Amino acid sequence: MKKTYLVLLFVLTSMLMAGCGKTAKVDTLSIVPEPVFVNAKEGSFTFSNRTKIAFENIGQNCETAKYITKTMRQLHMRTSVGSTETDQCIAFSLNDSSNIELGEEGYILEVQNNVIHISANTETGLFYGFQTLLQMLPEDISNERYKKIVIPCCTILDYPRFEWRGSHLDVSRHFFTVKDVKKHLDLMAAYKLNKFHWHLTDDHGWRIEIEKYPLLNDVGSWRVDRADVPWGEAKPAKEGEECSYGGFYKKEEIKEIVEYAAQRHIDVIPEIEIPGHCSEILAAYPHFACANDDTTYQVQIGPYWPPRAILCGGNDSVMQFLFDVMDEIIPLFPYNYIHVGGDEAVKSNWERCPRCQARIKKLGLENENQLQSWMIMEVEAYLQMQGKQIIGWDEILDGGVSTEATVMSWQGFEGAVKAARHGNHAIMTPTEYCYLDYYQGNPKFCPPAMNHLLPLYKVYQFEPVPAGITTSQARFILGGQANLWAEYINDYHHAEYMLLPRLCAIAECLWSPADHKNWPRFRAKLVYQKNRLIQMGYNVFEGYFKPILFTSKNADGTMNVAFDWEVEGTEIYYSTEGTPEKDKGGIRFTEPFQVTPGTEVSTASYLNGELKEEIYTYTIEQQ
Ligand code: ACM
Ligand code: ZN
Repeated sequence: MKKTYLVLLFVLTSMLMAGCGKTAKVDTLSIVPEPVFVNAKEGSFTFSNRTKIAFENIGQNCETAKYITKTMRQLHMRTSVGSTETDQCIAFSLNDSSNIELGEEGYILEVQNNVIHISANTETGLFYGFQTLLQMLPEDISNERYKKIVIPCCTILDYPRFEWRGSHLDVSRHFFTVKDVKKHLDLMAAYKLNKFHWHLTDDHGWRIEIEKYPLLNDVGSWRVDRADVPWGEAKPAKEGEECSYGGFYKKEEIKEIVEYAAQRHIDVIPEIEIPGHCSEILAAYPHFACANDDTTYQVQIGPYWPPRAILCGGNDSVMQFLFDVMDEIIPLFPYNYIHVGGDEAVKSNWERCPRCQARIKKLGLENENQLQSWMIMEVEAYLQMQGKQIIGWDEILDGGVSTEATVMSWQGFEGAVKAARHGNHAIMTPTEYCYLDYYQGNPKFCPPAMNHLLPLYKVYQFEPVPAGITTSQARFILGGQANLWAEYINDYHHAEYMLLPRLCAIAECLWSPADHKNWPRFRAKLVYQKNRLIQMGYNVFEGYFKPILFTSKNADGTMNVAFDWEVEGTEIYYSTEGTPEKDKGGIRFTEPFQVTPGTEVSTASYLNGELKEEIYTYTIEQQ
């Protein structure tokens, strides 16, 4: 198209936009995670075509400034950029002297009538201040063009409770593209999550380019495609069947993602799983298996349990392989930590392998758990020489750990308690709060998922600091993270559905002060957040409508019954006759009621007049 036509088109578009310009007014704040301090004030600030951005003492070309400018433009806010504060300006400034309260990630956001100030000690703080500001804009801002947006004046002072606010993504069980991973990083940034745990290797596929061992990618990254059947029904590969499902990230793509994450103040932690969960390695390099293991390994398809594949712990070439792989991993990931797995390594092969047993004897080890610890500590020592630290799943404690290793406590809280008492850092990912691959609602109404239930309400109860440790031990708890295993998640669209809105709850548990958590307020904020996420193109679960039951005993032996709910606006009707529907005599639940022990209470949940899911029945037990 000729340049003159382009100019004409631009002018015309601008005129049309000006012509149909609308004004949006935001009255209530729905910020997730909840800030430390919010003071609502009289007055409002209006975004318009006169709004400017000023980067006062950070360069306009630094990554944070570029991100902010680009994001504003993507949201159709045609703001001009300068370096001095003016009227109608959003001014970003770094503190001349550090504000101790804000730390490395905190910020102050002040919305006044004619100016918005965001200040922080670091660019990270400014980035988070900007994320908060974005959550003050209309929920449809990513798709709607407004001529004016009016937001309320306020002062927000904010900083995180925990330094580790993570999100884990399993790209082995299903492969997600670079574009998908970027979308995930955008989601993390929106909720101030800052550690991306990238589960790159597992039985079902090796997902990172390693030049020295090309079969990891030629063989280990590909499996027979069974995407047409549910995960649990996948049949084993037949002789000669083509391995057409999979993929891996080229080094250039890894760099692109790490850079994209850094622009969003997110550190990337690669996980290279040892010594178990390694079918894909053994499919590529069978001689890394134990001496007596005659299994013909394939990159696994569908459930693989118990996961018997294990790298031989007595074979020096396995150790050399691990060092070589780390040599290629280290330059790609600037962050200090590398995750080395360590979970669920079934050691029956080691018990029978003459090489493993010889190593155990030679090193004076007591058992196979100690052999695993020896392997992990060898890799740890290798990484430490290059300035890296390891993280491992809590099984790394079983045979003993160095004091520098960080423990990811997934089998409950015990791993973290043990780690903190031992002086090791711990990251909390207990299954019962953090495994977002579990069902979030009634399986009858949800697509297949890992066979446990973890509703939003439960996620929101997540308290990362385990009971039973002292205040000084609690300092070893770095934070926590949501884990998303991808057995049942064929594509990123479905990953979003599993993550949202539960990831918002995890974010609030990790950022906000414990005493600021407030379930009814969080639930109400999700109305805005869910709509905003949908407008941003994310796939969000509508909600679980089974009422949450609370009972308590009265002095006269009767039981008090009350319900809570997950979705704002839900109306619960109940009955002791088995017919709780509105039109069948159900009683609207508004306050606790009394029944005798053993009574069956049934409920019907409605949203916007529509009956949701099914009739649920509870037997009210004596306590
Ligand atoms: C794990 O879920 N196996 C860490
Ligand atoms: Zn062995």
